[in-house]
Amino acid sequence: MRVVLLGPPGAGKGTQAAVMRERYRVPHISTGDMLREAIAAGTSLGSQAKALVDAGQFVPDDVMAGLVKQRLEQPDAEDGFVLDGYPRNEAQGETLDGLLAAMGLPLDHVVMLDLDDAEIVRRLSGRRTCGTCGAPYHVSSAPPRQDGRCDRCAPPAGTLLQRPDDREDVVTERLRVYRERTAPLADFYRRRGLLRTVDASGAVGEVERRILAALAGSPAPASRGRAAGGRP
Ligand code: AP5
Repeated sequence: MRVVLLGPPGAGKGTQAAVMRERYRVPHISTGDMLREAIAAGTSLGSQAKALVDAGQFVPDDVMAGLVKQRLEQPDAEDGFVLDGYPRNEAQGETLDGLLAAMGLPLDHVVMLDLDDAEIVRRLSGRRTCGTCGAPYHVSSAPPRQDGRCDRCAPPAGTLLQRPDDREDVVTERLRVYRERTAPLADFYRRRGLLRTVDASGAVGEVERRILAALAGSPAPASRGRAAGGRP
C-alpha cells in the first residue's frame, strides 16, 4: 500500500495517516513532522526551515527532495507507506515520480481530502499536539482526558502544545499557498488515474470509512505496471 494523502491544512491528513499506518502496518511519513522534529532538535535543516514553517511558506524543493529520498530508502518503507505533506507542488510531484520509478515502487493511490474553509479554521484553531509523542488532539472534537495532557504516551504524559503556524494569520497564508501551489496537484494525479477525492467532513471514523471505500472501489491506476513517472 503506497499512498499519498493530499488536502488543505487541517483537512485531517495526519489524523487519517495515523489510522492508515495501524490498518496497513506501513510507516506514516509526514514531511511536516520531519521538519518540526529537525526544528526541535536544532539541526541545520531545522534552523533553515523554522522561519519558513512558522510563516506558512514552503521549504525549498531541493531540501525536501533530499529529505524524502532518504526517508523512502529506509527498509520500513519497502512494503508501503502513507506519505503526508509531500508532494506539495508539481515540481515535487515530478520529483516523487522519479524517485519511486527509480526504486520500482509506483504509487497505488492518491487521496485528496476535501474540506471547506470554515471547518479548516475551526480544526486548526483548536488543534493541540503532544510535545512528546506527536499525537494529535482537538480542544472540542478530540480532547484529551486530562486538560493539556496526552492520553497516549507513556507516563509522564506529554504536554499538549499549539503549533506556531496555527495562528489565524498564518492559517490564512497557508490556505492561500495551498490553493496556489498544492491544489493543482489534483489534476496532476487525475491525469495519472490515481486521484480519489474524499469528503473530509464529519467524524474521524466516517472519513476513515470513506477513504477505505474509495481505495476499495479504485480501478487499477493507469500508471500501474509501468514507471510511476509515466505520463498518461
Ligand atoms: P504540515 O505539517 O504537512 O501541515 P499541513 O499540510 O498544513 O497540514 P496540517 O498538519 O496542518 O493538517 P492535517 O491535514 O495533517 O490535519 P490534522 O490531522 O493534523 O506542514 C507544515 C509546514 O511544513 C508547511 O506549512 C511548510 O512550511 C512545511 N512543509 C511540509 N512539507 C513540505 C513540503 N513538502 N515542501 C515544502 N514545505 C513543506 O487535523 C487537524 C486538526 O483537526 C487536529 O486537531 C485533529 O485532531 C482535528 N481533526 C482531524 N480530523 C478530524 C475530523 N474528522 N473531525 C474533527 N476534527 C478532526
